[in-house]
Amino acid sequence: MGLGYIGLPTAALIASRGIQVQGIDVNQSVVDTINSGKIHIVEPALDGLVKHVVEKGLLKANITPNNADIFLIAVPTPFKGDHEPDLKYVESATRMIIPKLKEGNLFILESTSPVGSTYKMAKIIFEERPELKGKINIAYCPERVLPGNVIYELEHNDRVIGGLDEKSTYAAQNFYRHFVKGELHATNAKTAEMCKLVENSSRDVSIAFANELSMICDKAEINVWELIHLANKHPRVNILQPGTGVGGHCIAVDPWFIVSEFKKEAVIIRNAREINNYKTEWVIEKIKSTALQFELDNNRKPTIALMGLAFKPDIDDLRESPALLVADTLLLDEKFNLLLVEPNLDENLKYDLIDYREVNGRVDIVAYLVAHKEFKGFKIECIELDFCGVKN
Ligand SMILES: NC(=O)c1ccc[n+]([C@@H]2O[C@H](COP(=O)([O-])OP(=O)(O)OC[C@H]3O[C@@H](n4cnc5c(N)ncnc54)[C@H](O)[C@@H]3O)[C@@H](O)[C@H]2O)c1
Repeated sequence: MGLGYIGLPTAALIASRGIQVQGIDVNQSVVDTINSGKIHIVEPALDGLVKHVVEKGLLKANITPNNADIFLIAVPTPFKGDHEPDLKYVESATRMIIPKLKEGNLFILESTSPVGSTYKMAKIIFEERPELKGKINIAYCPERVLPGNVIYELEHNDRVIGGLDEKSTYAAQNFYRHFVKGELHATNAKTAEMCKLVENSSRDVSIAFANELSMICDKAEINVWELIHLANKHPRVNILQPGTGVGGHCIAVDPWFIVSEFKKEAVIIRNAREINNYKTEWVIEKIKSTALQFELDNNRKPTIALMGLAFKPDIDDLRESPALLVADTLLLDEKFNLLLVEPNLDENLKYDLIDYREVNGRVDIVAYLVAHKEFKGFKIECIELDFCGVKN
């Protein structure tokens, strides 16, 4: 259920083991694209795998589910309003499955979810189908893949598997054994749910430290990239790289699932989220002040190139992207002539994009927002602002 960045590679990998997979997505164009053997997202090696399993008849996409032995949910879990987790997609996917469930089925939730969600879905299932109590297995198994390396990591990463009871954990372990070479660590559903949230919160806190350092170093006139490189020579220090902020729908979202439920206790986790969000505002202010200084010095408005819009290097994913927030904020301000560059997107309906090779000779200021590989050797004569370390 859900054929996005997680669901589609998972469906294709399972199908590649000779298992019959029906991939369900509420988006008809996603269904049509997959059934024609193509993919709608950028992910290395995925196109060939999907083409192969669709041609062999092992993966077929559909808009509604049919009967199955195993149901696996990988739909989005965004947050709403005051960073409260929004389970509406998980709930609607669960409700689509309920009429199809039968004795012996295994229901797996993979979507990143607040603690207690698996139990909540079980409650919804048994309210409608009380006769299935004790007769189906229900487990939570979070995903921890790296976009850009999904196929390899799906197969090789260790997995944490938490059933609502031991029988469910065991059933889910048996299922994942068909396509996961990593270890399958058994626990309960609540611990597995919290484990996923904690993994991403830990990353967020570490990045916040690097981002805080970058702002301190800017004030102290120290090159933060050199500083981190030197500090990491200590055998037990490993500082991450600062950037434009934190994006994507995992690290920028999941910590809020802890903060919203544990408001008093989650102090470092909340601060880290706030520091990483503030870093993006700081970047915007830096670009604005550089532009104003240029205008004072040259008596004309500068043209600025924003290099990269995705939430991290070498992908096309714009979700929760801090670079996109920088672009949107500056676009609202008529004082700036902006050129937007995103080498991982051919075109975008909302933004006019320009090829990075066409920037030369046309801009006064270049702001590197995402460390895409194309920008590494890129040479240009103008004011360069490096917020992602691609030039350091
Ligand atoms: N992308 C990642 O790198 C990543 C990593 C780890 C965990 N996750 C988690 O995995 C989950 C899925 O993320 P994603 O990146 O694959 O999302 P996505 O937005 O790429 O894809 C989700 C798909 O689900 C479909 N959908 C929505 N409601 C549906 C329903 N009721 N039935 C069937 N399909 C439905 C959407 O049309 C969409 O195609 C989220 O909880 C996310 O937090 C993602």
